[in-house]
Amino acid sequence: MLADLSVSLWRGAKEGRYETYSVPRRESQTVLDVVTFVQRNIDPTLSYRFACRVGVCGSCAMRVNGKPRWTCRTHVSKVAAGGRLEIGPLDNLPVIKDLATDMSRFLEKWQDAKGVFAPTKTRHDPIEQIRPDSPARRAADAAIECINCGVCYAACDTVRWNEDYLGPAALTRAWTLVNDERDGANTARLQAVAAAGGCHSCHSHQSCQELCPQTLNPTASIAGLKRRTAAAYLRGEIKA
Ligand code: SF4
Ligand code: SF4
Ligand code: FES
Repeated sequence: MLADLSVSLWRGAKEGRYETYSVPRRESQTVLDVVTFVQRNIDPTLSYRFACRVGVCGSCAMRVNGKPRWTCRTHVSKVAAGGRLEIGPLDNLPVIKDLATDMSRFLEKWQDAKGVFAPTKTRHDPIEQIRPDSPARRAADAAIECINCGVCYAACDTVRWNEDYLGPAALTRAWTLVNDERDGANTARLQAVAAAGGCHSCHSHQSCQELCPQTLNPTASIAGLKRRTAAAYLRGEIKA
């Protein structure tokens, strides 16, 4: 018989407080299971976000004992030191209610970084073959599995200090597209990520890489953008 967990959950919005609940401990229990137990059995007004429960949609991220994590794939046994959990909304995002944050600005920054594929072919052109082992394709594939969870964004000190910083996720998406040989918008993309609040604001301390649940390395992607924007500037393709 496992002892119950003591679980403190953030209640409120920007202003609020932690409320503590007792939750039965189960084998293989995830942090999302714990939050769901409270919502279904103790307080149905608790607000939080999830969809897939299997690490695909990226919607369930929360701050768990001080660190941002995807809660559906985080086992309680790995994070609940002494049987205690403190669960709050992700940092660096406005809180809508309780554990649910407003992701609007996070997602708008993907657009600011020109993170949308710009095709160079039409449906009438022959299908282009891209070698999967080409250096550019490998670079594009390296971070393509980003699930937009916002964990890296919540972990980033630069976002905390500078709300205009595009952040590790949007810059990682930009780097993926910069390396996509089929895309035709790289000059505008490099100009966008070289501007104030872009890749050169990153100080490479790697919290994003340490905590990304997909084991991506945004720091390396951003370093690639720094090199590529510097080269584009020296060639006169983008402005300072
Ligand atoms: S390496 Fe850059 S993007 Fe990653 S957490 Fe640090 S400042 Fe943010
Ligand atoms: S880079 Fe990793 S931590 Fe950041 S949004 Fe994508 S999957 Fe999440
Ligand atoms: S609920 Fe989809 S990633 Fe956690």
